[in-house]
Amino acid sequence: MSPLSALRLSRIPASKALQAWNAADELAINRLAETTATDRLLLVNDSFGALALALGDAQTDWWSDSAMASKALANNARANGLPLPRRIEHPEQLRDDYKRIVIQVPKSLDLFRWQLAVLATRLAEDGEVYALGMVKHLSTGHQVCMTNFFQLCDPGHAVKKARCVRLSCPRQVDADNQLKTFSTPTGLTLQHEPGCFSSNRLDPGARVLLETLSQWPDADQLLDLGCGNGVLALSYLQSHPEAQATLVDESRQAVHSAARSAQANGLENRVRCLHHHGIEGLDLRPMPLILCNPPFHQANTLTEDIALHLFREARQALTPKGELWVVANRHLPYFHPLKRLFSQVDCPSSHPKFVVYRCY
Ligand SMILES: C[S@@+](CC[C@H](N)C(=O)[O-])C[C@H]1O[C@@H](n2cnc3c(N)ncnc32)[C@H](O)[C@@H]1O
Repeated sequence: MSPLSALRLSRIPASKALQAWNAADELAINRLAETTATDRLLLVNDSFGALALALGDAQTDWWSDSAMASKALANNARANGLPLPRRIEHPEQLRDDYKRIVIQVPKSLDLFRWQLAVLATRLAEDGEVYALGMVKHLSTGHQVCMTNFFQLCDPGHAVKKARCVRLSCPRQVDADNQLKTFSTPTGLTLQHEPGCFSSNRLDPGARVLLETLSQWPDADQLLDLGCGNGVLALSYLQSHPEAQATLVDESRQAVHSAARSAQANGLENRVRCLHHHGIEGLDLRPMPLILCNPPFHQANTLTEDIALHLFREARQALTPKGELWVVANRHLPYFHPLKRLFSQVDCPSSHPKFVVYRCY
């Protein structure tokens, strides 16, 4: 029986179809049971807190980019009456002598490279890193990253199509500045910390939504829900000198990127950048305009649940005459859910691949 099946574990957003842990988590738990070290444990990218509740205690450190993961951890710890680990918000809070570090390999290679560069400097001399994931998600790029930062990489046996790679003896690698920058056709400079969405080019969906910018209502305030590098809100601020924007993302790296982008364009005094899962619980005034280019993945899983959650929250956050503008791939089934939430849903773009929804 899986050590995790004794725990009550839920995902964020809640899902009946999807489990809050996988075979890679189980494999890591079994591997760690074979080790003798019990203290100075760090868990990284633990998606829904399963590793923390199975392996950790109040002395364990827990580092994640994701506000959804953090919320899931809190919910699951409460549901099981277990202590919360110490949450790390910034690498400077990390210890420099971890005995064991368990990292769920993130989908973003940039994020993985940056995290390994940090972790390689935070291990005790005899410490070990366990990098885990489903075999199909561990790309050649991920493997190269591991060998770049660690002299010893033991892939072990795959179990139930999952792998737990043991890394030790960190190399002295100079991790170069991993910030990425590009400019939009309207001259916005966008900056990206490792892991921020679409760090090499303007996202094609964002581009299609921006083509409708002249049709967006005049607003003194707007909300960019799932802001990434901030391109949507910052483009609006560029052409509306009186407006202010709130930018929200569940990825801390994205929030930092949006704040950097605002600064790079002299817009830092007109934005508020918040790290949060959606907007519930934030003290926001009603918004006349909300922009959203929603995700359809959660790590490696395809899902519409997050987008639907964000649409429901957006509905609640609008002023009575406010408008939500959404862009999505045409194949995604958003029209009917949006129609249930809003009296009017127009589609003001005829792009073959993307659809823009104006909801009011
Ligand atoms: C498709 S990207 C769009 C980024 C940017 N707005 C653009 O147009 O390039 C979706 C963004 O939503 C963020 N996101 C995912 N789930 C979220 C949630 N529950 N709350 C807030 N942001 C979320 C992701 O981190 C990602 O940055």
